[in-house]
Amino acid sequence: MDTRTDIDYLFEPRGVAVIGASQNSAKIGYQVVENIVQRGYKGRIYPINPKGGEVLGLKIYPDLSAVEGDVDIAVITIPARFVFDAVKECAAKHVKHVLIITSGFSEVGNAEEERKIVAYAREHGMRVLGPNIFGIYSAAASLDATFGPGGILPGRVAIITQSGALGIAMIGKTAAESLGLSALVSIGNKSDIDESDVLEYLTRDEATKVILMYIEGVKHGSRLVGMLKEVARKKHVIVIKSGRSRRGAMAAASHTGSLAGADEIFDSIMRQCGVLRAENVQDAFNWAHFLADAPLPKGKESVIVTNGGGIGVLATDACEKYGVDLYDNQAVLKDTFAPVMPSFGSSKNPVDLTGQATAEDYKRSLEAMLANDDMHAAIALYCETALFDTDSFADLLRVEYQHYKEKKPIIFSLFGGEKLEAIVRKLRAEGIPVFSDVYDGISSLGALYRSWRNLNAPAEVAEDVQIDVAAAEAILDRAREEKRGFLLANEAQQMAKVLGLSMPRSILASNLDEAVRAARTIGYPVVMKVVSKDIIHKSDAGGVALDLVSEKEVIDAYQAIMRSCRAYKADALIQGVEVVEMVKPGVETIIGARQDASFGPIVMFGLGGIYVEVMKDVAFRAAPISRREAHAMVSDIRSYPLLLGVRGEKRKDIDGIVDVAIKLGAVVDKCRDITDIEINPLVVYEHGQGVKAVDVRILFQTTREVR
Ligand code: COA
Repeated sequence: MDTRTDIDYLFEPRGVAVIGASQNSAKIGYQVVENIVQRGYKGRIYPINPKGGEVLGLKIYPDLSAVEGDVDIAVITIPARFVFDAVKECAAKHVKHVLIITSGFSEVGNAEEERKIVAYAREHGMRVLGPNIFGIYSAAASLDATFGPGGILPGRVAIITQSGALGIAMIGKTAAESLGLSALVSIGNKSDIDESDVLEYLTRDEATKVILMYIEGVKHGSRLVGMLKEVARKKHVIVIKSGRSRRGAMAAASHTGSLAGADEIFDSIMRQCGVLRAENVQDAFNWAHFLADAPLPKGKESVIVTNGGGIGVLATDACEKYGVDLYDNQAVLKDTFAPVMPSFGSSKNPVDLTGQATAEDYKRSLEAMLANDDMHAAIALYCETALFDTDSFADLLRVEYQHYKEKKPIIFSLFGGEKLEAIVRKLRAEGIPVFSDVYDGISSLGALYRSWRNLNAPAEVAEDVQIDVAAAEAILDRAREEKRGFLLANEAQQMAKVLGLSMPRSILASNLDEAVRAARTIGYPVVMKVVSKDIIHKSDAGGVALDLVSEKEVIDAYQAIMRSCRAYKADALIQGVEVVEMVKPGVETIIGARQDASFGPIVMFGLGGIYVEVMKDVAFRAAPISRREAHAMVSDIRSYPLLLGVRGEKRKDIDGIVDVAIKLGAVVDKCRDITDIEINPLVVYEHGQGVKAVDVRILFQTTREVR
């Protein structure tokens, strides 16, 4: 029985048609056929062109209906205006996937034609890859159906790319760097098949050990998050996302026709998923190369062996930067290295053999490190000296690497002249992780450790929060009757109650007498705020009075508020004032949740005031979230130590923040009509003393609709 799913046929097709196959070697329709033939695809190849004839020894069929065998994928290389008709032919032939290389669709504003093609294809049980792609390579089928330069090496890294030109350039680069690929998929406009579909196959593909994605914009973020969380627990996943800078984001948006999400959100959510984000293509390639071959470490402690003190210090800095822990048991370090190193060296980690070490000293120290099971990863550094025969040095590294490469992660970094650079190039081409720059090497080891912590981690299960959705909707409906898309303070209070958020006590007073009574009931000091749907920015209108400690102050403040609000807006309808408990000071934080255009429901957390406004010190997570994810979000911000307690201050109530984050995540997930909910400030007290939501703002869609 055939147990393959649809997406499997994209990577392991039984027959491939090329619609627009040409005899003219300058055309894309020729190059695709040539790559398929040269790579040695095992299935049947069907070039299609009404002119007939032969190409590269293959018969050209006049149209698809003339083909006798099964066609699982059809690669389309004809001008845009003919594509729809070709897709119809594909449907008649029961093709499973159409790969549209042709450009000229949504990326240039021709979205309607693209939508029509996809709708037709889906109605007829087909999936569409592209349009605006360079094709697909799949090692599982020995298939190179791209118009790239050819020469792809089979291997363990799968690349998914949204950019065509960059993807084609990557083919050349993988060959130059001897990086073997299990698959390479160009997803172009992502009109139908997107990263998540491709990941569904790659997560099951045994040949694939590392997945490298180049993303410009995220379309179906919630699905992608779910898929990435699953994949990153099984394989190393690296992402390069362009559009980091404001200008870059604008370029990416116009480039692909899809909006690039805000970079900080993307960054946080990738961390949530356990995905490694690379700054640039070179880092991504370095990491992919290393991760494809390195074994997983058995522990987190690394040892540096060097013949140069300076480079050892640089390596130590790099370890701190990239989160690589150094082995620190001085007694064991001494026992291990003292017998094999020159007496003038230092056995502290980094183990410094000094520039006077001979090749023999280096070899014995390297072996001592590699053979010790408590030293979980090895960083071997070398500065060129006259005491080494550089030619035999390459052999030394080769032998040691071959012997220990399955046992622990190893990186080498060599620094010196042209001869040494040549060794670096040669050994890299053999797949040995040798780097000229020590930072590149340790950044790769850091990537392995970050991914390792995530592999086999238990799946995150979002906290089950009971929210009375009907009660929440009822509050929104009442505001909708007044055609409002935001809640007034007293309504926000009611919403906070539904959500179980702890807010300061508050009483609505419609005249002075009620205000005085309310203050007495709550207890001094109190805050007074005007309540009016016509006054949104209360402070600007002079509608807020703080720290009122007596009845007299309440009376004076009430009159002052009324006076200034009337002066601010004479026709404002004032319902009264809200008398609120004055909260004790604590750490002011900001916490919110909203519907993000790319990722759907998300949660946000940061410290209040300048931390959020000037320093943009905020973290995000895709919602709903688990308790552990909420904790990770809170600890992600740079100013987290302030919550842990600095300079003798006590730890703050982090669990209280976590509870609120979970609730807000659940509410924007369950009530998709709520577009924004923000608590600013959420005052956080010492551990065990809780948190208080001082001001809650809620925005929502004025018409109820399921999005
Ligand atoms: N069925 C089969 N063959 C057809 C056909 C049909 N319905 N209609 C036309 N053809 C044939 C043509 O006769 C031609 O064959 P020939 O060389 O024997 O004359 C061949 O298909 C290609 O058509 P042609 O009109 O010559 O187009 P082209 O090769 O100049 O351009 C594309 C076609 C798809 C390459 C071009 O439209 C395009 O989109 N280029 C950009 C591709 C790109 O950059 N993609 C993104 C990469 S990341």
